[in-house]
Amino acid sequence: MIVVVGNLKGGTGKSTTVFNLALWHAHHKGDGAVCDLDPQATLRDAIDVRNEEEFEPRLDVRAKLPTRKSGPILVDVGMWDTPAMRAALRRADRVLIPVAPSQADVWSTQRFLEIVADATKGKKSPALYAFISRADTHPGSRENEEAAEALGSIPGLNLLDSRLSQRIAFRRSFSEGLAVFELEPSGKAASELSALAQEVFGASA
Ligand SMILES: Nc1ncnc2c1ncn2[C@@H]1O[C@H](COP(=O)(O)OP(=O)(O)OP(=O)(O)O)[C@@H](O)[C@H]1O
Ligand SMILES: [Mg+2]
Repeated sequence: MIVVVGNLKGGTGKSTTVFNLALWHAHHKGDGAVCDLDPQATLRDAIDVRNEEEFEPRLDVRAKLPTRKSGPILVDVGMWDTPAMRAALRRADRVLIPVAPSQADVWSTQRFLEIVADATKGKKSPALYAFISRADTHPGSRENEEAAEALGSIPGLNLLDSRLSQRIAFRRSFSEGLAVFELEPSGKAASELSALAQEVFGASA
C-alpha cells in the first residue's frame, strides 16, 4: 500500500507525520518503509539521526518509489508540484493531507486536491484523507472546529477524527530521531499518533 502524505502548504507536519506513522507501523506490524521525494530531505535528515544513534527498529529511507509494493510505504512528497509528486500520486492507494487549522491551509488543501485530480486523471482516484495537524490546544479557540467544518464540506475528501495537536513532543522527538511514542510513551502526543495510525492503516494494519 502506498500512502502519499502531501499538501502544498509548508510546515503542516508532512515529514513529522510520515516519520511517526512509519515507525508506528514498524513497531506494531514489523515493517514500514518511507520514501522522501522532497528536495529539502528533512525526513532523510531525521532518519539519519535515528540510524546514527542506532535506535531500533531501523528505518530505511528511499529516494525513489519501489517498483514492487510489499508492506505500506509512506511517501513524503514535499510541498512542490513536481513530476516526482505527480508520479507518486498516480501510484498512491491513499493520500493523506495534514492540514493546519487556518483558512489559508484549507485553501491550499483545495488546490492540492486539484493537483491530485489532474495527476490521476484517467485512473482510479486514490482514497483521500485529511486530518487537522498542529491543532490549536488553546481552550476556547475556534480555529480547529472551523477548519474541520470547511474540510468536511469538500466533496470526496474524508476528514479523519484524529488530530495531531501542536505539542513540543512532536518537535523534540523528530529532532532526536525518535517517534513521539518512543520519547514519551504515555504522553498525549503518543495517544494522538496512535489514534491517527489506526485510522490511516485501518483494516490493513
Ligand atoms: N504537531 C506538531 N507540534 C509541534 N511541532 C510540530 C508538529 N508537527 C510538526 N511540527 C514542527 O513544525 C516544523 C515543520 O514540521 P514538518 O517538517 O513535519 O512539516 P512539513 O509539512 O514536512 O514541512 P515542509 O513543507 O517544509 O516540508 C518542524 O519544526 C516540526 O518539528
Ligand atoms: Mg517536510
